[in-house]
Amino acid sequence: MEASSTFISWMILGLALAIGNIVHTTDARAFFVFGDSLVDNGNNNYLATTARADSPPYGIDYPTHRPTGRFSNGLNIPDLISQQLGSEPTLPYLSPELTGQKLLVGANFASAGIGILNDTGIQFLNIIRMYRQLEYFQEYQQRVSNLIGSDQAKRLVKEALVLITVGGNDFVNNYYLVPFSARSRQYRLPDYVKYLISEYKKLLQKLYDLGARRVLVTGTGPLGCVPAELAMRNTNGGCSAELQRAAALYNPQLNQMIRDLNNKIGRDVFIAANTQQTHTDFISNPQAFGFSSSRIACCGQGPYNGIGLCTSLSNLCPNRDLYAFWDPFHPSEKANRVIVQQILTGSTDYMSPMNLSTIMALDKI
Ligand SMILES: *[C@@H]1O[C@H](CO)[C@@H](O)[C@H](O)[C@H]1NC(C)=O
Ligand SMILES: *[C@@H]1O[C@H](CO)[C@@H](O)[C@H](O)[C@H]1NC(C)=O
Repeated sequence: MEASSTFISWMILGLALAIGNIVHTTDARAFFVFGDSLVDNGNNNYLATTARADSPPYGIDYPTHRPTGRFSNGLNIPDLISQQLGSEPTLPYLSPELTGQKLLVGANFASAGIGILNDTGIQFLNIIRMYRQLEYFQEYQQRVSNLIGSDQAKRLVKEALVLITVGGNDFVNNYYLVPFSARSRQYRLPDYVKYLISEYKKLLQKLYDLGARRVLVTGTGPLGCVPAELAMRNTNGGCSAELQRAAALYNPQLNQMIRDLNNKIGRDVFIAANTQQTHTDFISNPQAFGFSSSRIACCGQGPYNGIGLCTSLSNLCPNRDLYAFWDPFHPSEKANRVIVQQILTGSTDYMSPMNLSTIMALDKI
């Protein structure tokens, strides 16, 4: 009696767990992330590169209070989008933990230091460039096919949400990396921007060819106003005019390219997120978002805490929520929350042709 009732409880528990699993895997849509350090969840931890965020104080406000490879004091943009989708954070594709059922949550292919161009971030040596990220996406789909069959795998990808954040490094870690860089001798800025957009278009087309059907594409932030640029090349104490000019040329052309691609496909596959506008909002009025500063990094050294890397020897602010920038280049978790809120509910000034809550409502039907 005792033994058999225990057996039955175990069976019920087993059944409940099995149902839980099924509900879990068909409930939340999968989420895929591509791009650079703004969205890397820790792939670079597994690579021999200097572009890494795997030591303190990175992660100081993460739930574990440990560094994870995210370039943030806490959560980053993909984490906060995962929360909205009702799923676990995406695991880095290179993580040995990304196996079995966990594959069905999605995957994060992003790698700090990379750009649209293959030659961006060469100083970081061994990083996962965009074409490689897309190859890994193909490999991922094969692994999921082996797990749930190829029809189901195709469906999982088609119904997934995708985020791609890339482009800032093509300016900061390529064109403007050193005075008289190879690219700046090859192209005038307006021609370089055109070239970037044409190469980016190929990457987005490839993502579509690999099955992606809902893709959030973020523009660059106000590149010239990040603490690193304020420290190194401010224009009369203000944002770097040259990098601001780059962002001002790039972002509208990115939006136009996205409109063209959607027209060609005949559907709103690509959604432009105007992160420049959001950032500009909190740079021009930090107090409205609860920031005491949008110019000084929480972690760093030198003017604006904008010089060098954020390490255990750097200045570190006690309250990260008061800073728009965590380190010389990357937003704080608090700023990431503002950005994701705009992605979710922003007007067409921020999200074009529509915001993520509209997308989620549309895709439910
Ligand atoms: C970048 O590299 C990929 C493969 O590694 C290649 O297919 C692509 O053509 C390269 N892009 C340019 C502009 O050279
Ligand atoms: C964005 O989301 C809100 C709901 O949160 C909605 O009222 C609004 O119309 C949406 N805007 C666009 C442009 O889709």
